[in-house]
Amino acid sequence: MPTRTTPPSDAPVPAKSPGKPPAKRSAKAGVKAKAKPPAKPPAKPPAKAKKSPASKAASKAAGTPATRAAAKPAAPGRFITLEGGEGAGKSTQLRRLLARLQAAGIDAVGTREPGGSTGAEIMRHLILSGAAKPLGPLAEATLFAAARADHLDATIRPALARGAWVVCDRFADSTRVYQGALGNVDPRLIAALEEVTVGETRPDLTLILDLPAEEGLARAAARSGRDADRFESEGLSFHRALREAFRALATSEPERCLLIDASGTADTVEEAIWQAVSTRLKLPAPRRRRRT
Ligand SMILES: Nc1ncnc2c1ncn2[C@@H]1O[C@H](COP(=O)(O)OP(=O)(O)OP(=O)(O)O)[C@@H](O)[C@H]1O
Ligand SMILES: [Mg+2]
Repeated sequence: MPTRTTPPSDAPVPAKSPGKPPAKRSAKAGVKAKAKPPAKPPAKPPAKAKKSPASKAASKAAGTPATRAAAKPAAPGRFITLEGGEGAGKSTQLRRLLARLQAAGIDAVGTREPGGSTGAEIMRHLILSGAAKPLGPLAEATLFAAARADHLDATIRPALARGAWVVCDRFADSTRVYQGALGNVDPRLIAALEEVTVGETRPDLTLILDLPAEEGLARAAARSGRDADRFESEGLSFHRALREAFRALATSEPERCLLIDASGTADTVEEAIWQAVSTRLKLPAPRRRRRT
């Protein structure tokens, strides 16, 4: 079995969001140095609201309780990932979903793996140059984990912490499938790497674009402006196994993952994705126009 590496995605790195930049925190943000302590401590701490994994991660990334209160976003960020085989349309649909979220007034950020942050983009080149290939899928899985850790810290968690929605072209599921299911890396190791890198920043929704391997390869081959990469040049049996592994993943985690039929036109797939996002995740109410 040849060595597998999670393939490159060609989404923007990361795409700029039209939303406001995060307000700069002053050194004193949220810290009232002169405030008197309350005479009595409150009898009971307030009951904790139940948080989604992404919002937990966003809170964690927001810092100390004092600064967290100051930087609290109006609504929690959401984390959406796009997965699937070669040429299934992930990058195309990322751009379209991002545009629709932004048109709905949502501060949305597009990003990709491997890469998505300065450090991880350097690792992307290291991995995709083939330099790590002789080391085998286990070493590659750890390299991807290191890149993912940087991507999460530098790009994903800060965006979620300010309340932005993050859409990522490939994420940890690609490692599960390419290095795990197809590369035969022990699933316990894959799970352990995910635990220490991803932690609580699990996607709220994973859309798995499903397409017969032949069609995905044909689309990828017809794509202009770029040569086939080493994954696209793998045999058909590899790509068929890849599709099956993604389908099995969708079945194993139905709360998080949704299989999207990617065989229709780009417009049809875009609509199916928008329906899924609108149904599964609560879109913020459109802002009312102020009367003058
Ligand atoms: N629904 C569709 N029908 C026909 N062609 C499509 C469709 N969606 C995308 N394409 C085209 O197929 C090619 C591959 O699409 P895209 O690059 O979005 O796939 P991808 O999943 O990101 O591929 P990779 O895994 O190689 O990154 C592109 O040329 C794109 O314009
Ligand atoms: Mg792509």
